[in-house]
Amino acid sequence: QRSIWLTRHAETEDQLRGKLGSVSQELTPKGRRYCRFMADMLRNCKRQMLEVGETSDREVLVLLGTAPVHAATLNALKSIPDEADDRINFLAMSTSLLNELDGGVCNGMTYEQIQREHPDIWAAREQDKLNFRYPGAGGESYADVIGRLRPIIIELERQRRSVLVISHLAVQRCLYAYFTGHPVQDTPHLELPMHTVVELRPKPLGAAVRQARFED
Ligand code: F6P
Repeated sequence: QRSIWLTRHAETEDQLRGKLGSVSQELTPKGRRYCRFMADMLRNCKRQMLEVGETSDREVLVLLGTAPVHAATLNALKSIPDEADDRINFLAMSTSLLNELDGGVCNGMTYEQIQREHPDIWAAREQDKLNFRYPGAGGESYADVIGRLRPIIIELERQRRSVLVISHLAVQRCLYAYFTGHPVQDTPHLELPMHTVVELRPKPLGAAVRQARFED
């Protein structure tokens, strides 16, 4: 048995200002506290797996995007010392395949700004959020993101070890929908709150799901 843990990056100052995309990497104090919660939780899970013989290694593998906020979340996680003698470490690999859905011309804007400055974009996205591709260089749709995540999904399927994935919301939605068997049309609308680790335990038809929510 192994787990796939999904988490959105820790809260940033720009996120509090409502900006879309990977704008800043400055974590809020609450974001940093979440990283402590996550480090403790993952190490405890790993220790339980060691105890029952589900694993023999002492590392939590981490896959993450290449945005500064992904690295900031990982660094905050790694900076939490393991108090136990038998240390559990984090072993990370970053890939741009896990970067957030690219908002094209709307990257860095707030939803209010988009409604005001690009009402046409707002309306078209409301019509068909799955297939709407943001205009501008690199702009993407959810369908595009689902396509680019295929190698990640294959890796997560074949990986025998437990893995933590750190990304933004849209990428989390696509991975969550795939592993839990949600209809693809629902993907862009799934609720995946901040500061929550979703644990998926893949089984023949879908996955067992548990959530560990950080209460500040
Ligand atoms: O932090 C929120 C966020 O990850 C943004 O960066 C991103 O643009 C947004 O979520 C995606 O959500 P939606 O597709 O619902 O606009």
